[in-house]
Amino acid sequence: MHATSFAILASCISQALAATYALSDNYVGNNFLTTWEHQAIPDPTNGRVNYVDQATALADNLTFVSGDTLILRADDTTVLDSSGPGRNSVRIQSLKSYTTHVSIIDVRHMPQGCSTWPAFWETDGSNWPNGGEIDIVSSLFYSIEGVNDVTPNAMTVHTGAACSMPSSRTETGTPTGLDCDVNTDGNDGCGVQAPTADSYGPPLNTISGGWYAMERTNDFIKVWFFPRNGATPPDLSSGASSIDTDNWGTPTAFFPNTDCDIGSQFDANNIIINLTFCGDWAGISSIYSSAGCPGDCCGTDFVNNNPASFANAYWDIAAVRVYE
Ligand SMILES: *[C@@H]1O[C@H](CO)[C@@H](O)[C@H](O)[C@H]1NC(C)=O
Ligand SMILES: *[C@@H]1O[C@H](CO)[C@@H](O)[C@H](O)[C@H]1NC(C)=O
Repeated sequence: MHATSFAILASCISQALAATYALSDNYVGNNFLTTWEHQAIPDPTNGRVNYVDQATALADNLTFVSGDTLILRADDTTVLDSSGPGRNSVRIQSLKSYTTHVSIIDVRHMPQGCSTWPAFWETDGSNWPNGGEIDIVSSLFYSIEGVNDVTPNAMTVHTGAACSMPSSRTETGTPTGLDCDVNTDGNDGCGVQAPTADSYGPPLNTISGGWYAMERTNDFIKVWFFPRNGATPPDLSSGASSIDTDNWGTPTAFFPNTDCDIGSQFDANNIIINLTFCGDWAGISSIYSSAGCPGDCCGTDFVNNNPASFANAYWDIAAVRVYE
């Protein structure tokens, strides 16, 4: 009897505490240079990109830090030789990796322009780039990812084993695919489209961005988007030392464990911010041309010959915070 009451009590307590997290890492400005690494690696998705190392990025001002500002940008001055390397850009990854946690990005501006394929996401970085995405145990393209300025944002989960999502879920976004297993769905993953255009690209930049937050537990993954000009949970926007996701309302995307063993599908993930051009997804010509982009992205002529069109291909990030 006592044991039972205790078990019930204990489970109530653990549920009550489950949504409360403490700040573990507050990445702001200069500390992106010491606690994240620039990765000068080939792009496994075949983008027309040349990721540079930190020294080069700083020397060329592709990476710039000051106060609470981190800028990551693409080269917007060089016309490329079509037989040479791709457009210089930056890919950074957190040195630390995380299992269950909440991560938040406070973003003021994200890369925009034809052929741009920016992403803020998490994966097991130790599996990269060997074998590309397919061989990754599971990756979580949970936050900002899109191509060619096409809004709204899609939040997608990719897993390395059987995992699917119910079509009806408590979320404000709209599912675009229910099969998360990269082995059976051609690596499309299970995506959810945000309900508003200001979640991505030029409309997001017009309102000076906002916040994306992702909560990963052993039972579910939730993603919220809060535009800067709207109501935002104060603990989330202020960078409070502790947060309670129970107060954040219905998530934009909700990935429950109904038909997916979330607890075992994901290992410790690093956080990655990257910006590539064209490549296996952005280069899909239908998306490219329907976005009103000129020429043929797959042919990469646009990326080679139009440096000035990359003037707004930059991230301006106020902070990335991780709570555990
Ligand atoms: C950049 O991010 C995208 C996810 O949007 C990923 O598919 C691509 O492979 C990444 N490229 C690199 C080199 O990290
Ligand atoms: C580097 O980029 C920052 C941010 O865009 C800008 O404020 C600064 O003037 C640039 N520095 C140089 C030397 O161009």
